[in-house]
Amino acid sequence: MSENLQPVKLLDTVFKGYSKPQHILFNDGNSYVVKFKNNPSGTRILVNEYIATKLGEILSLPVIPFEVIEITDDFIKQHDVFAKHGFTSGNQFASLYIPNCIQLERRSDNAHIKVSNRDQLAKMVVFDLWVGNTDRKENNVLLEPVGDGKHFLHMIDHGRCFSKAKWDIKALKEMPNMDVNLNVHKWSLNWPESENKIQEAITNIMALPEETIQNVIQSIPYDWDVTEEEREALVTHLLESRERLPNINLQADSKKKKKKKKKKKKKK
Ligand SMILES: Nc1ncnc2c1ncn2[C@@H]1O[C@H](COP(=O)(O)OP(=O)(O)OP(=O)(O)O)[C@@H](O)[C@H]1O
Ligand SMILES: [Mg+2]
Repeated sequence: MSENLQPVKLLDTVFKGYSKPQHILFNDGNSYVVKFKNNPSGTRILVNEYIATKLGEILSLPVIPFEVIEITDDFIKQHDVFAKHGFTSGNQFASLYIPNCIQLERRSDNAHIKVSNRDQLAKMVVFDLWVGNTDRKENNVLLEPVGDGKHFLHMIDHGRCFSKAKWDIKALKEMPNMDVNLNVHKWSLNWPESENKIQEAITNIMALPEETIQNVIQSIPYDWDVTEEEREALVTHLLESRERLPNINLQADSKKKKKKKKKKKKKK
């Protein structure tokens, strides 16, 4: 946690997002996109953001630098919008604001986007499957212009990991699906740079010492309501789910498509 980092001013950027992220200027001169405790999507999404971003940093994935920052009751009370969304004081998850970004388009193959860090895309896919991030939609990557018509891809929004935003110990006993279904994942693996990178990405995750995973889980802020039992279950889940990574199914058909196919067959 960054004890010296203090909020200076709430900025008026409005972000789309169920968790109602806020744009706040801090006394280090940077602004951050802050997700609050008790936001409409629940405090668990802060926990998920924290675990995924911390593990992502360790694995050198293109996650955005973040800080756990403290917001006082006074600062909450000074802003009606915070009360409106039900935010509460204490530790919050703050991701460094990256200006001027674009996002992938839903109704496009996004083949025209020149990504400068294409060599990291396969790693992102394998990582998402490991942590059960089912939310790698088009708007959950940021594309920062870096010149020459190229964009650097940043991974954002890890609120929906462990297959469910609001997991509990029972849900953690279930292992994530290793099918590559999401369009962004398929797009990521389509580039020649991704060839042969899957195995490397799996090896990197398998090589993470158990202690490193334990330390990440132990360091989740105390006021984000994760019990000791839940912390143990998270470690066990991450250790077990990584054993399944060799089962990644690249040819997976999405459930929706499968249903459509079934319907078509019935009609015939
Ligand atoms: N670090 C950042 N820098 C710049 N913009 C950001 C950053 N983080 C988030 N955003 C913007 O805020 C939007 C919402 O962020 P995010 O997807 O993390 O919120 P959310 O509430 O979890 O969303 P969802 O509705 O998908 O659950 C993003 O689509 C993006 O436009
Ligand atoms: Mg989002």
